[in-house]
Amino acid sequence: MHIILLGPPGSGKGTQAKNIASEYGFVQLSTGDMLRAAGNSGSKLGLQLKAVMDEGKLVSDEIVIGIVQERIFQNDCAAGYMLDGFPRNLLQAKKLDTMLAGQNQQIDLVIRLCVNDEVVVRRIAGRRFHVASGRSYHVEFNPPENEGKDDLTGEALIQRADDNEDIVKSRLNIYREQTEPLVKYYEEKSILVTIEGMGTPNEIFAKIKVALAQHS
Ligand code: AP5
Ligand code: MG
Repeated sequence: MHIILLGPPGSGKGTQAKNIASEYGFVQLSTGDMLRAAGNSGSKLGLQLKAVMDEGKLVSDEIVIGIVQERIFQNDCAAGYMLDGFPRNLLQAKKLDTMLAGQNQQIDLVIRLCVNDEVVVRRIAGRRFHVASGRSYHVEFNPPENEGKDDLTGEALIQRADDNEDIVKSRLNIYREQTEPLVKYYEEKSILVTIEGMGTPNEIFAKIKVALAQHS
């Protein structure tokens, strides 16, 4: 299965990608996590990427498409993968289709998570993040076993620089303007399933499992 997880910031893409990965073995390809890793490398390009991401703006299409193209055909992805945070505009979506067609592949399912802006702001404000793995926690909704520490490694959790209220509003605007048109694009291909993203992570994962069973 080749899956896209589509949804605004804080809709639970990362949280559900981890659930899907552990139950189905599909690889999570989060462009946000990959770009953050590049941003933390300390290189000149990394610092430029970090500055763009910290402001909540989109990184250039050329860079993101290059990263995905390099990753998506690696051996581990043969087991199936989920794109988390890509594509984010029509140009990226069309480039993805072209690169997949070149390898006789296609996207099988687009899972769209719907949540309202108020919930997004609450989720993002309380998010605590483990940078190395991309694991997300929430101080209220999904607290770690030990405050401020990742459950698996015990390493420190951080607050992402782009997780403040003003920047979240700007990320939501960018989502509306640039990413939401993808809903129509994938609806027309009849591969879009919309899942109500409110409720507990387990409730949402149960709905995703139903959608996956219907489309596999
Ligand atoms: P990225 O890292 O992809 O950020 P995003 O799309 O804004 O999404 P988030 O990671 O903020 O949210 P999420 O949906 O993963 O939610 P999560 O599961 O963590 O991108 C960051 C930046 O990278 C972009 O701004 C851009 O600069 C750049 N970038 C990335 N891809 C790009 C591309 N293709 N093109 C150009 N630039 C690109 O959950 C959020 C919180 O809510 C957590 O605290 C979690 O514990 C909690 N939570 C989750 N589910 C629930 C639930 N059901 N109930 C209660 N709490 C919940
Ligand atoms: Mg995420």
